[in-house]
Formats: sequence, C-alpha cells, structure tokens
Amino acid sequence: MCGIVGATAQRDITPILLEGLRRLEYRGYDSAGVAIIDSAGGIQRVRAVGKVVELENALQATPVSGHLGIAHTRWATHGKPAEHNAHPHLSNGLAIVHNGIIENHAPLRKQLQDLGYSFTSETDTEVVAHLLAHHFAETGDMLSAFRNTLGEIHGAYALAVVHESEPGTLYCSRMGSPLVIGEGSGEHYLASDPLALLQVTDRFRYLEEGDYARVTLDTCDIWDHAGNTADRPVVRYEHAAHSLDKGEYRHFMLKEIFEQPQAISDTLAGTLGDDHVLTAILGPEAETRLADIANIHIVACGTSYHAGLVARYWIEEQAGIPCQVEVASEYRYRSVVVPANTLLITISQSGETADTLAALRYAKDQGYLATLAICNVAGSSLVREADWRLLTHAGPEIGVASTKAFTTQLVSLLWLTTALAQTHGRSQFVARNVNALRTLPALVEQVLGLEPAIVALAEQFANKHHALFLGRGPHYPIAMEGALKLKEISYIHAEAYAAGELKHGPLALVDEDMPVVSVAPSDSLLEKLKSNLEEVRARGGQLINFACETIEQSTDPEVRDVSLPWVEDCVSPIIYTLPLQLLSYHVALVKGTDVDKPRNLAKSVTVE
Ligand code: G6P
Repeated sequence: MCGIVGATAQRDITPILLEGLRRLEYRGYDSAGVAIIDSAGGIQRVRAVGKVVELENALQATPVSGHLGIAHTRWATHGKPAEHNAHPHLSNGLAIVHNGIIENHAPLRKQLQDLGYSFTSETDTEVVAHLLAHHFAETGDMLSAFRNTLGEIHGAYALAVVHESEPGTLYCSRMGSPLVIGEGSGEHYLASDPLALLQVTDRFRYLEEGDYARVTLDTCDIWDHAGNTADRPVVRYEHAAHSLDKGEYRHFMLKEIFEQPQAISDTLAGTLGDDHVLTAILGPEAETRLADIANIHIVACGTSYHAGLVARYWIEEQAGIPCQVEVASEYRYRSVVVPANTLLITISQSGETADTLAALRYAKDQGYLATLAICNVAGSSLVREADWRLLTHAGPEIGVASTKAFTTQLVSLLWLTTALAQTHGRSQFVARNVNALRTLPALVEQVLGLEPAIVALAEQFANKHHALFLGRGPHYPIAMEGALKLKEISYIHAEAYAAGELKHGPLALVDEDMPVVSVAPSDSLLEKLKSNLEEVRARGGQLINFACETIEQSTDPEVRDVSLPWVEDCVSPIIYTLPLQLLSYHVALVKGTDVDKPRNLAKSVTVE
C-alpha cells in the first residue's frame, strides 16, 4: 500500500528517494511524488499518477535536486488516484507525506477552512499539512508545532515532514503504521519499510507506537508518545527476512512458517484503531457501501479456499450476513443465483490462478454489488480487475505449500468480518477482535515455539500411509488445511472430516495403522469433539490432539496431546493452523521429499 522514503545528506538525495520508491513498488500504489528542498532553500515538488517510472519521466522533464527530501507512493483512500491527491502535500513552506488514515480529518478540515486555509486535494493528509503549518505560525518552532499536531490527530499514521526553515531536518512520527530511521555515515534516512533503504544502509532504529523524531545529518532525537526522550537502539537488518533466499533455514517453507509473526504485523499495519477497524483502507467507495452488503459469496482455490471456509463461520456469526463459499473451478461453470446486495470475494495468494480469475470475470455480469480481491500480490490481474481490494502483506511466498499466505488471508478475513460487524450493528464483536488481532503476532511467535514437540511426533507419523484429520466449526476447514499440507508435501494420503461425520463412513477405516489428528481448541464444541475422539480410541486408532493447555491431558499411551495456549475464539483457527504446518513439514523432512517443490504441483496454477 502506501510507502514513505526520506533522506538528509550532504549529497543529492533524489536518487536515494527514487530507488527507495522503486523498492516499495511491490506493495502496490496508484501515484507517487517527491518534495525536495533545493539549494535556494525552497520546496520543489514533482508528482505523477501511475508507476514510479512515470515519476522518473516527470523528473526528467523537471529535474530537482537537493540535500533534504521526502517521497511517497500512494494507494488511494481519501480522494481518487490523481496528481492533485498524490503526496507530498504542501502548506506554507512545509511538505508532508503520510501512510494511514486520519479519522478526524473532516472536523479538522472544517476548522482549518474557517481559519482561511484552502485545500487543493480531497486527502486526509492535506489536513495534517495545514494543521502543522497553523501550529508553526503560532509557535515559530517546528518541534512544538509537530507535537501539537500529533496531539490533535486520531487514526493510524506514519508521517514525514520537511520545512524550509530547517533545510537539514526531517520530522517523523508513527502510530499504527510502520516507520524506521536509517543510519548512514553523516546522513540519515526514513522509510516505511527497511527494504526501501537497503541500498544505503542496513542499520535501523525502529520507531515504536506514538514515537516522534527530529532527524538531522548527524543527530537523531526520539520522543515517546508521552513526550519523554526515548532510546531506540540501532539494529542491523536481518537480510534473510523477506528476501528471496532461505537464509538460515533449510527450506523456504520453514522460513515462511517462521515469518508469520512479521507477515501478520505487516498485514495489520495501519488497519486498526484503538477499539475499531479503519474501514477507510478499503477505499472511499467500499467504505460507504459496506453497510449495504446483505450477502457474501466467496470463491477461491486450494489453500485460499480453506481460508474462505473459515471466514464463513466468522461472517455469519459475527456480522450476521449469509455467506457461501465455493471452489472457483465449480463456480465458474454453473448458473449462480445472486441475491440483491451480494458482495463477491475472491481470495488468492498469487492473484493469477486461472480458475479464480475466470470466476471473477464471470461474476462481473452476475449483478453483484461489488467484487473484492483479497490477495498477496499488489499488481496481479485479480487485484487490477476487482472493484475493491484488500492486500495481505505476507511478502514473497516461494514454498509451493502455502503457509504465511494462508494465515495472512485469515487475518484479512477476520479484519473484514470486524469491519462488517462494525457496519452492521454488531458492535459486541469489534473491540474484542481488534484486541485479539493486535496481540496475534506475539501469540503466533509463542506457538511456533512448539516445534520441538512436533519434531518428536513427526517420526512416528512418517511410516504411515493414511491419516485422518478431524475438527468442528471453524476448525473443520483448519483440519482440511492440515490434511492438504500433509498430502502436498509428504505424499501421505490424508482426509479431513467434520468430526460429527466420523460415524457416517470414515470410522470404518480406523485401526492401529490410521493416525487421527484432532484440532481441539477449548471452544463450545469441545465436548462433542471429545465424544468423537472416544469413538476413534475404541477402534484402536492412534490419536494426536492439538488441544488447549486448559484441558486435562490423556494418560492413554496411544494418545499424544500437544498443548497450545488458551486463545480467543476468533483467532483460534489461525493459531491451530501453525502446529499442523509444522507437523507436515517435519513429516516431509523425515520422508525426504522435495519440501519446497513437491512433485506434480505448481505454486501458481495459471492454466485451467
Ligand atoms: C496452487 C498452490 C496452492 C494454492 C492454490 C491457489 O494449487 O499450490 O498452494 O493454494 O494454487 O493459489 P492462489 O494463488 O490462488 O492462492
């Protein structure tokens, strides 16, 4: 989505800013711009709609250079993609770039208009530019003007500012949107993602929520939200993270499993308010039409389809909206009945899966209220062709078996469920979900610590030829995902069943050679699930339970319990996915299969 770069140096910083923007391109954007303080001390701004190359062309026509500047790639929220809405925004000698959403922009805009400020854009960012200029006019001091401004804006933001009165100084702040300060020798940089600056430095200070900073060539002063001086140490960038090599990991799949805390944080950046979700990230049209949605159809393939199946439980329970989920290869060839005000959601890691794309194209003529793509690749066909989009920020996923793409899809779908609950008068779910999402990365980190226990289980699994996975409620699709992972990479035949279906057939298969994996969180269906598991034990089946630590462990030697921490129901499907990913990975490792490139499978299926 939006990206920020800034620099102060004793050389021309234009190339640093442009290279930074290029490196942020993969996140997706609709326009870009730079503002540079030139040798005469004035701000020069160049903006362009489209790709960074359009900005480069504009800069060739109007070259700018200087030692201090900021740059931005924009993904429209307030105001359509157009040059006049592109950042940086200016006001009385200052330039500002912003990621995120200022929620109280409307009253502030009115207040500033009453004070005589005129607006040239529809953005919430220009409000901050004028507010800051207003406080600077009052105080004559940038630091206090910046501090006063931050005290008056609500929402999620990363901000970077330059002012003509201080031609060597960058001001910046973050709240709900990432921002780092890069350390050079005798120069400093800013970026919303360290990747943007790896061409000039690998040393970064990571700002914390509410921090603001004043950065010059050789100083970096940081204050916390309360205004106390804050010490944020310089950290060397871990090149393995998000890069296209395996780093310390044996396989991409394992690396991607362990990247999930970061991938989830990145997906949530700028999307959460204190106790609500920031629906403006969907764009102005989607934001205003959310309340009209009366029905939802979800279409996807493979692992992405499983994410949709989990979302159906969330959406119907929390938002009270009827929801149906279907594999794209079936949906595209049948006569679909679309009730009034139905939203079509397509989910795809790659955004290029042939069936999903064909389903979206077919849906265009079926009278949907709108189409929404949930996708990990900003420039993909699916994202370009859908009316609305919600990007997951899992980073590149190389392993064919999807891991971090799946959990970030679930995160986006839980976020969307919360947005729908918020707009459909179901506020009882909203603050709880927001809180659970906020603490999710740390919880994921903790649960990944179960790896040693799962390595031990994998040994006994590897000589089996079949396995059953059982779950109930939203954990039934998680059992399906666990079975799919095992099939894909270890070539063990695995089936998932809703545990209540056990007696209707699969129980006939259960004997001492059939391991049964159960996904058994401490939820309202646990007692029912336990009865199903008793049925398995009574037939001599070997049980592996992924269960909450609050449940008493079995003393039966044929039952292996792996204990997970207690978690809120809403994030439980995400958490219980993790041990199943690790189990399939370690079974495949014991079996010696090609984990990252399993036989006969492709990462992106672009043919029917
Ligand atoms: C292939 C991949 C799966 C993926 C599916 C859908 O089968 O191997 O991992 O879930 O395609 O891909 P998509 O990119 O649309 O999520």
